[in-house]
Amino acid sequence: MERRGWLQAAVLLCLLLLCSGREFKTEHTPIYNSTLARTLAEYTSAVYTADLTQLFTWTCERCGDLTEGFEVIELIVDVKNCLQAYVGFASDMNAAVVVFRGTQHTSIQNWIEDLFWKQLDLDYPGMPQAKVHSGFYSAYHNTTLRNGVVNGIQKAREVYGNIPIMVTGHSMGGAMASFCALDLVVNYGLNDVTLMTFGQPRIGNAVFASYFKCHLPNAIRVTNDHDIVPHLPPYYHYFPQKTYHHFPREVWVHTVGVGNIVYSIEQICDESGEDPNCSRSVSGNSVQDHIEYLGISMHGESPGTCRIVTADSTLQYKMDKDGSIVLSKKPGLSVDQLHSAHWANS
Ligand SMILES: *[C@@H]1O[C@H](CO)[C@@H](O)[C@H](O)[C@H]1NC(C)=O
Ligand SMILES: *[C@@H]1O[C@H](CO)[C@@H](O)[C@H](O)[C@H]1NC(C)=O
Ligand SMILES: *[C@@H]1O[C@H](CO)[C@@H](O)[C@H](O)[C@H]1NC(C)=O
Repeated sequence: MERRGWLQAAVLLCLLLLCSGREFKTEHTPIYNSTLARTLAEYTSAVYTADLTQLFTWTCERCGDLTEGFEVIELIVDVKNCLQAYVGFASDMNAAVVVFRGTQHTSIQNWIEDLFWKQLDLDYPGMPQAKVHSGFYSAYHNTTLRNGVVNGIQKAREVYGNIPIMVTGHSMGGAMASFCALDLVVNYGLNDVTLMTFGQPRIGNAVFASYFKCHLPNAIRVTNDHDIVPHLPPYYHYFPQKTYHHFPREVWVHTVGVGNIVYSIEQICDESGEDPNCSRSVSGNSVQDHIEYLGISMHGESPGTCRIVTADSTLQYKMDKDGSIVLSKKPGLSVDQLHSAHWANS
């Protein structure tokens, strides 16, 4: 045990040394940009759209407002595992946006109950002593999504240059977004990757959280009031070697006030990842608070179904042997040109 503690200290020291010099924060960029949060929340809300044509052509009900004019480049549907993600180009931000959908579980209640028992059962590759939950890890790394997302980013960068990449997602989609952002930085060596998630669960232990902070020092996890999911899997502070630990930085959205003077604040939390004065200061007992963020619905249009809906018979797509679907187009093509375009992801 003595030796183990020493090793842990050495790992942390290494992390500290590695981390210094990677602090991107400057006087000009705030830690948290609430306009950006609203924008990314709208992108995240849209990924729950069931009709793939509407989503791909950015004509869905939730496509518009702050995300007006967005161009989807790659839409990936892993049918077997019921997962969905898209990559596209936001000209107003001059950035690629990558969005992961949360669970389509028939019962969100059951999915949440399962979260209590998730084990830290996988060593994160290349990060000694960093442990994560294999299910969250695999949902990104071991499905169609990783290839599709990387392809989409590559295509966007070929046409639009070395643009920044913003990765986002809600709930389980936030967990996948986190693994994606880390993957892009660590394994693909991409720079300028931003991560902002909404209502995500914990995904790894404290050592993992330290590595994470090191590679993605500006990551933001938005949590909403009493949302239960950020409280899971549980944090056991008296059991530091075994417990899950959030990476920083949390921004806790909650209401304050007395009587009828009530307003919502977005509280920027400390760098520990587990700020006791943020969401951890209240009990996570609300599912309702999980499915709406910043006034934007994060609810699936048709939760519990993984069926593919398209209103458009001219839509062509590529399907692999597992039944996964990729809708893909050349960046820069306008929506009007889409239907006559060559769709195949050649
Ligand atoms: C906040 O984000 C919005 C939307 O991306 C951007 O237009 C604005 O410049 C950002 N503000 C700051 C201070 O960075
Ligand atoms: C990924 O998938 C392969 C093949 O299905 C499997 O052998 C492997 O254990 C999976 N990895 C994880 C981390 O689940
Ligand atoms: C944060 O929480 C601690 C107790 O956990 C308390 O003593 C302290 O006053 C709080 N700080 C703020 C700024 O609320």
